[in-house]
Amino acid sequence: MAKILTIFGSTGGNTELVVDKVTEILESKGHQVDIRRAEESSYEDFQDHNLYLLASPTYGHGVLQHEFQKLADQLKNQDLSGRKFAVIGLGDQRYEKEYLLESAKTLEKLVKDHKGELVHVSLRILNTPVQYLDTTITAWAEQLSEKL
Ligand SMILES: Cc1cc2nc3c(=O)[nH]c(=O)nc-3n(C[C@H](O)[C@H](O)[C@H](O)COP(=O)(O)O)c2cc1C
Repeated sequence: MAKILTIFGSTGGNTELVVDKVTEILESKGHQVDIRRAEESSYEDFQDHNLYLLASPTYGHGVLQHEFQKLADQLKNQDLSGRKFAVIGLGDQRYEKEYLLESAKTLEKLVKDHKGELVHVSLRILNTPVQYLDTTITAWAEQLSEKL
């Protein structure tokens, strides 16, 4: 059983929906999952969990969700080596192609820049996540569980 901390940013609720589903699956596999909004999180949170799950949608020209970006800024110059991570990014195809789903890439870079280890392929959800809850999202969480 792994102890997991999920940190997410969500303005409209889509990312929260994905995080809740992933949590449900991980808990059904026997893992312990703590969930925190980005605005309630800081560098000090990256201490005693076996996995950190970072989730953010893409906003305006590919940037992270506002509150998640504040956390990312706080992490500047911090060392996350020895910590394991997985990433969830959301986006919508109505926005510029150039920045489609950019948050997943940005979160992956954040982890790598701070020397963290990505243990699973990132979950990328385009458009409303509702249609993917019992398919793509469930399958991703089950695969992640097997790696823990
Ligand atoms: C102002 C605004 C800007 C956005 N910019 C992008 C973007 O550049 N690329 C993208 O893929 N999605 C973009 N989106 C879509 C959101 O990432 C998507 O709706 C997401 O599901 C929102 O997640 P949330 O409900 O958890 O906040 C944007 C949405 C808004 C409202």
